[in-house]
Amino acid sequence: MHLVTDFAVKEKYSYHEGFGNHFRSEAVPGAVPIPNNHAQRPPLGLRTEKMSGTSLVGPRSHNLYTYMYRIESSHEHHEFTQWNHHLEYANPPPAKNLTPNAVSWPTVPWPEKGDWISQRLVGSNGDPQQKTGLSIWFFNIHKDMDPQTVFSSLDGEALIVPQFGSLDITTELGKMLVRHNEIAVIPRGIRYRVTLPDGKPCRGYICELYQGHFRLPELGIIGTTGLANSYDFQIPKASFEGRVEKGLNSDQIAVANETSEWNIVSRLNTKLWRCSQPTSPFNVVGWQGTLYPYKYDLARVDTIANIRYGHADPSVFVVLTAPSFGKAPGTAVIDFACVGPRWQVAEGTYPLPWFHRNTMQEFVLGIIDDQRLDTPLNDPKADFSPFAAFLNGTMVTHGPDEKHYQAMKASDTTKPVMVQNEGLTFGLFEFECPLYLTDWAFESAKQNSKRQFSGQFIETK
Ligand SMILES: [Fe+2]
Repeated sequence: MHLVTDFAVKEKYSYHEGFGNHFRSEAVPGAVPIPNNHAQRPPLGLRTEKMSGTSLVGPRSHNLYTYMYRIESSHEHHEFTQWNHHLEYANPPPAKNLTPNAVSWPTVPWPEKGDWISQRLVGSNGDPQQKTGLSIWFFNIHKDMDPQTVFSSLDGEALIVPQFGSLDITTELGKMLVRHNEIAVIPRGIRYRVTLPDGKPCRGYICELYQGHFRLPELGIIGTTGLANSYDFQIPKASFEGRVEKGLNSDQIAVANETSEWNIVSRLNTKLWRCSQPTSPFNVVGWQGTLYPYKYDLARVDTIANIRYGHADPSVFVVLTAPSFGKAPGTAVIDFACVGPRWQVAEGTYPLPWFHRNTMQEFVLGIIDDQRLDTPLNDPKADFSPFAAFLNGTMVTHGPDEKHYQAMKASDTTKPVMVQNEGLTFGLFEFECPLYLTDWAFESAKQNSKRQFSGQFIETK
């Protein structure tokens, strides 16, 4: 069991480290003015642009903002117009199907070989205009985004979970390589471009959070470290498309590479809009602040578990959470949990989760942590069909199937065993509110499927 993933696609960028830290990031030393964030004449002839991710006067610990120092402001652009993308599902109708039944997607039909913009809405709750709830999207991309095209969501903050494959993500604040068994978060409004670093397709899941921001769960009596440790989160470093030259007054100035127009694609209320601008969005020479994209290697989760007897709640697997402010303490719009390889031992204790029903609704996804490109798990004919996911109904009982139930009852639980080390990690999106499904997701889900991983069903004839 590797404590850090030995990725098949090797890292090519360097990063800052530490969740929630304030960073000053400079592609050219001295690009960020000190101490005046609003310098009258910023260094290198740059322009100041601020991005705030929270209301301005919130508690200091919740304030998220970033000052960007860029060659040209993104203020200059043409009018946004609605984009009738040729892919019908790029502008999906509202999700409206609600069911107490568990539904599953042993695999997902995917007719088009699209790019990052061809995401498919699975379901949602809340309302992006009220900044409540979230949406879930599948992506299955086979090609780079069009040249000089960027995407951003105006609806929410994206938690990106590749199931298999790699993404090269260039953001306004720097570059990230995100591979399966890593996750990435991109805040609302940040513009970015996605390409395939090895030319191979990449598929996975996105949870777009309409309310607030993802954060680390409180640790309570666990203490200062454990679960996803803050120091393992990686933040891109400032990077820009341009160079530094000598200006008219012999000053050093930053100059952008010559380009034609750029397309800015934005999603608002799940619909696509676009505009053009004359300059590259990737012209931020330096930035400082607390609002930025980040990524995390799921192999680094410092898993907590019972070592004598009993079964801890799955809250001990939570990597990121989004508190539902204004509700009972501890309530989350979503918890993202990761259940991967780990040692298991507890005296006289049934090893799997018992039959249970929860007020939080569970959306279960598969993450192939096996880094072999030819892993059997990536074979569509495999027992685990690529792109599998399932959704358990709120307060509807689920648990182990009979075969596993009997096997686990008979097992010797006093001997440590390595579990779930077969190349597949389970991710969990746990929602506070039930998910409404889109028509296509509801129709393509196989209800009461025997292929469900943890359900026990009596099939109707
Ligand atoms: Fe469950």
